[in-house]
Amino acid sequence: MQDEDAQGSTTAPRRLCWGGGALLLTACSGPQSVLDPAGRDAEVLAVLFWWMLGGAVLLWLAMNGLFFYVTRMKERAFSPQAADRLIVFGGVVFPTVVLAVLLSFALSEMPRQRDLGEGLTLRVTGESWWWRVEYRTEDTETPVISANEIRLPAGSRSELELAANGYIHSLWIPALGGKTDLIPGRETRMSLEPVTPGEYGGQCAEFCGESHAKMALRAVVLPPEEFAAWLEQQAAPATPPETETARRGQAVFLREGCGACHAIRGLGARGTIGPDLTHLGGRRTLAAGVLPMSRAALEDWLRAPEAIKPGVRMPAYGHLAAADLAALATFLEGLK
Ligand code: CUA
Repeated sequence: MQDEDAQGSTTAPRRLCWGGGALLLTACSGPQSVLDPAGRDAEVLAVLFWWMLGGAVLLWLAMNGLFFYVTRMKERAFSPQAADRLIVFGGVVFPTVVLAVLLSFALSEMPRQRDLGEGLTLRVTGESWWWRVEYRTEDTETPVISANEIRLPAGSRSELELAANGYIHSLWIPALGGKTDLIPGRETRMSLEPVTPGEYGGQCAEFCGESHAKMALRAVVLPPEEFAAWLEQQAAPATPPETETARRGQAVFLREGCGACHAIRGLGARGTIGPDLTHLGGRRTLAAGVLPMSRAALEDWLRAPEAIKPGVRMPAYGHLAAADLAALATFLEGLK
């Protein structure tokens, strides 16, 4: 009976340990992890992390070993000379060498993380609380404008010009590279060289106000040919609505004055305050990564955006008749 009790009391913490450990490990992989690199810059950062972790574990073991040896095994105290040597080596020489090696590795890698991009240039502006993304290439005069999604070609280094409108933000796509601040009134830059095509999560990494936590973005890395085709499609104006419901939605869009804040190229809406909606339906998420891109989510968003993203500048359209709201969502979802 006693044995069983003793076992019961040790298995609970053990389970907690294993559970906690497994939970921590799940954070090491997946689309938004620094330890699951999909780009050149993130690979270097991951290598640096593993070396630092390995070194820290070795040091921890060595310190505990030394502590154990001195307190449990050593019978006599160190001689003053031996103690001095231990202090000079362990307290001065060893840390100096370790820190110098780590610093020189990090410094040698830093310029590469800031290399100039080749070909594609993107301008990313931190808005409240979403990302304005403009693509500039050598062969397009006017930039292709999108939001909350950064598409990049795999295998080449893209240049990102960073700006902020109103508040400070920080752009971080952990699987692709380190973070850089977006500062009002100042131009900053970074470059990214994605290697593996796929979808990766990103997040604003600098507290910027009430919806900071809801300022996510999606990075979609495509093979170069696919990227070129996508960019060409994005440069085209919006396709006019095809169904009766979508046409009714477009009429609601115009009647309600949505074009004062949003642009839809080809349909006469030229607002620049909110995100460009020309190809809204082709994006993966809605409201900066907060909702999936679907008709139902669009309806929820239009009805009460403030309930989904506190502090948002988008006004609510809950006063519209249900059929008008549904038509508006259908029209917007159709903008592929
Ligand atoms: Cu934008 Cu935090």
